[in-house]
Amino acid sequence: MLKTTLTVSFEFSASHRLFRPELSDQENTTLFGKCANPNGHGHNYTLEVSVGGQIEPRSGMVIDASRLKAIVEEVVLADVDHKDLNRDTPWMKGKIPSSEILAQAIFERLSTAVAKECSTALLDSITLHETRRISVTVSRDQR
Ligand code: NI
Repeated sequence: MLKTTLTVSFEFSASHRLFRPELSDQENTTLFGKCANPNGHGHNYTLEVSVGGQIEPRSGMVIDASRLKAIVEEVVLADVDHKDLNRDTPWMKGKIPSSEILAQAIFERLSTAVAKECSTALLDSITLHETRRISVTVSRDQR
């Protein structure tokens, strides 16, 4: 059987500040550079969500792309688009909103939601592009 992967892309805009509350502004700047700017800064993120599995013979699909879009909108985009990741996103509370940690949190939320929705496909990976040149990919550890 061939594994087939469907990828859907999304865009969202959000602000954040990378800092540790126990550190001074100076120490945060040393650790996080300009990402520690006290009043935050924004990004236009692109999120690629890939779901893999067997093609369901009746529909010819791995997962209904419109259903996947609805899941991503409900469990991710509603909490991050036009939000401040430090203060507005409940599941990022107390976490450093780096792309790595944000991408892991998104993966975990989507993995649960896709598993609930679809018995034949699994969330394969997500890639979060913070800028055109920087992206983070999260997938299951194969070891
Ligand atoms: Ni940033």
